[in-house]
Amino acid sequence: MYKRASVKTSGEGSTENSRTPAGQMYDRLKILEEPGTCLEPERRLRAMNRPLLAWYESHARILPWREDARPYKVWISEIMLQQTRVEAVKPYFERFIRELPDVASLARVEDDRLMKLWEGLGYYNRARNLKKTAGILLERYGGAMPEHYSQLLELPGIGSYTAGAIASIAFGHPVPAVDGNVLRVISRVLASKEDILKQSTRRWMEELLKKIMPADRASQFNQGLIEIGAVVCVPVGPPKCGECPLESLCLARRQGLTGQIPVKTPAKKRRVEARTVCILEQGSQIAIRRRSSKGLLASLYELPNVEGTLEEADLAASFHLEQEMVGKVEKLPEAKHIFSHVEWHMTGYRIQVAGAFPPEYIVVDKKKLETVYALPNAFARYRELI
Ligand code: ADE
Repeated sequence: MYKRASVKTSGEGSTENSRTPAGQMYDRLKILEEPGTCLEPERRLRAMNRPLLAWYESHARILPWREDARPYKVWISEIMLQQTRVEAVKPYFERFIRELPDVASLARVEDDRLMKLWEGLGYYNRARNLKKTAGILLERYGGAMPEHYSQLLELPGIGSYTAGAIASIAFGHPVPAVDGNVLRVISRVLASKEDILKQSTRRWMEELLKKIMPADRASQFNQGLIEIGAVVCVPVGPPKCGECPLESLCLARRQGLTGQIPVKTPAKKRRVEARTVCILEQGSQIAIRRRSSKGLLASLYELPNVEGTLEEADLAASFHLEQEMVGKVEKLPEAKHIFSHVEWHMTGYRIQVAGAFPPEYIVVDKKKLETVYALPNAFARYRELI
């Protein structure tokens, strides 16, 4: 029923001479299917291996966690890369590794310092889990990372994707690492209409990939798929199919379905919350607060803020200031911040405050916001105005 795909054995067109040797190999290995053939999913994915590996060899970006793929670095980079682009992660990664070069230093770092190193990356629980896991690694594994997928999966903050990434990239174990990039690429190659936000789709894909991935090139295979998803079969906008080593195998491409695949259930509408944020100033000092240890942005510092859109006349009472403490008041621009489940629509004021602040506030030198206190990105618009 299924016809075997033929392998293209010679380069086509005049570009071959200008390609690198690995690029030329990738051109030669491009698999061409005859019209009307139909490969079942496992065979279709198996046919990906050679063009994928050849493409990765010639196209992989040089990244700090690839140059030195020791387990600690792979772990830290993979946690940072969840939901954040490579270019944005690079400076965070470099600074983090410089200051916390190993498991022992991470296990010992002060919580506030850790939050400062993570400031701007968001999802602060990820950083807390890094520290928790570092403690466990010291206790259970003498400060080393375990190498097996099942051992990694037991650690806080490490799910199936991260366990697969560490086991394959740092230790070469043939386990898949299916993130959003891989879900998109494989869904398109197979023209799969399964919802990629469902756990069952991820598990199905992991099972398929486990069967077909090359046992001795697991790191390159996983990173190749991630890389295609990041730079070719891109998360936003149309895929660059003309640059894709999997183009000739890709059913979504052939069927004109790249606009409909991957399928994702529409996200639930976020709750919108109005908030009023205040820069409470006194000369070179500013008032901040620590958020509660539970819920959104738990235990992080914040600019004083309350729910609702306040008028100037309401500010003193809402921020627990005596009326006579309130000096000049300046209205600041509106700002919006989107969290995963809620959106803050913010109004801001700058208030010159006279006299002693109530004890709920921590009064700090403005310069210390640069070096000591971590303010989440939600306050970025107002922070710029301090
Ligand atoms: N995104 C997630 N993991 C990655 C990796 N190892 N390299 C590049 N981008 C990634």
